[in-house]
Amino acid sequence: MVTGAGGGLGGAIVERLTGRRDVIAGSRRPEGLPTTLPTRRIDFEDPASLRDGFTGVRTLLLVSAGYGEDDTVIARHGAAIDAAERAGVRRVVYTSLTGAGDHLPYALPHRWTERRLREGRAAWTILRNGLYAELLAALAAPDPEGRITAPLGEGRLAAVARRELAEAAARVAIEAESASTDGGARSPHAGRVYELVGPEAIGGREVADLMGGGVRYEPGTLAGARERVAASGAAAFQVPMLVGTASTIAAGFLAGTGGDLPSLLGREPAGATRVLAELFAGAGAGAGA
Ligand SMILES: NC(=O)c1ccc[n+]([C@@H]2O[C@H](COP(=O)([O-])OP(=O)(O)OC[C@H]3O[C@@H](n4cnc5c(N)ncnc54)[C@H](OP(=O)(O)O)[C@@H]3O)[C@@H](O)[C@H]2O)c1
Repeated sequence: MVTGAGGGLGGAIVERLTGRRDVIAGSRRPEGLPTTLPTRRIDFEDPASLRDGFTGVRTLLLVSAGYGEDDTVIARHGAAIDAAERAGVRRVVYTSLTGAGDHLPYALPHRWTERRLREGRAAWTILRNGLYAELLAALAAPDPEGRITAPLGEGRLAAVARRELAEAAARVAIEAESASTDGGARSPHAGRVYELVGPEAIGGREVADLMGGGVRYEPGTLAGARERVAASGAAAFQVPMLVGTASTIAAGFLAGTGGDLPSLLGREPAGATRVLAELFAGAGAGAGA
């Protein structure tokens, strides 16, 4: 079972698993999912949906439900893992956050969930996802005057394509499940932590160049960004999330490349320049992000 099938990452994972007869897509709103896979309602805040939804599941690909204060996210993930253990789920593959992201304001619930899995009864695999190229594009969106004012300084991000994280997650979950059904061999992924970042780091200047059309990079301050985000109608928890992300990029903590994505994909991942060029071309053609 893949949870979070209604989100960008979960949806892309489910798309990659189309045609399989042994995969279930879980979501808070299963009725609207654009998939031919069987679906079940899964809401980490609804214990009955977890009890019924995890019945008979052997391998759970737990997509983090990360929007909220730490206690909200911890409660969601804790409830999901408790229910998975009660239902006899044998292994959990969890989409976490890159180790380089420990300074990010939303790192704590990811590390809590990793610790909960290590202490739990199910076998586990942790996919430590880097920040999406799509997120960088959103952070660095230009203002109406064509200026990117995100406070990224000269910092760069080893941004990764969300679709490639989805591909890696789908592959790991299927291989983990297959190893267990092919004569009970130990999963090649059990007890493994994979660091999944992009192969190229780019910053605000490169994003402006890729956008073209006279867009320029004029980085502002964290204080200015905090005021703008707070005034935009964002939920209170989102203000430190967005400002802290910019601060962590600006301070150079998220520029490191390398990691395990090439070996999980079996090829070199797409660089941030290519991913963003495709994204902007698609947006220009009305395809959206
Ligand atoms: N690495 C990055 O750059 C980055 C960026 C943003 C977020 N994230 C994290 O990665 C996760 C997936 O990213 P995304 O791009 O797919 O985000 P997204 O498109 O905003 O989707 C949000 C996800 O959270 C799930 N969710 C929310 N509340 C839930 C609940 N009560 N029970 C179960 N699931 C719940 C949604 O599942 P349904 O709608 O199907 O119920 C959906 O999969 C996010 O939730 C967040 O933790 C990572």
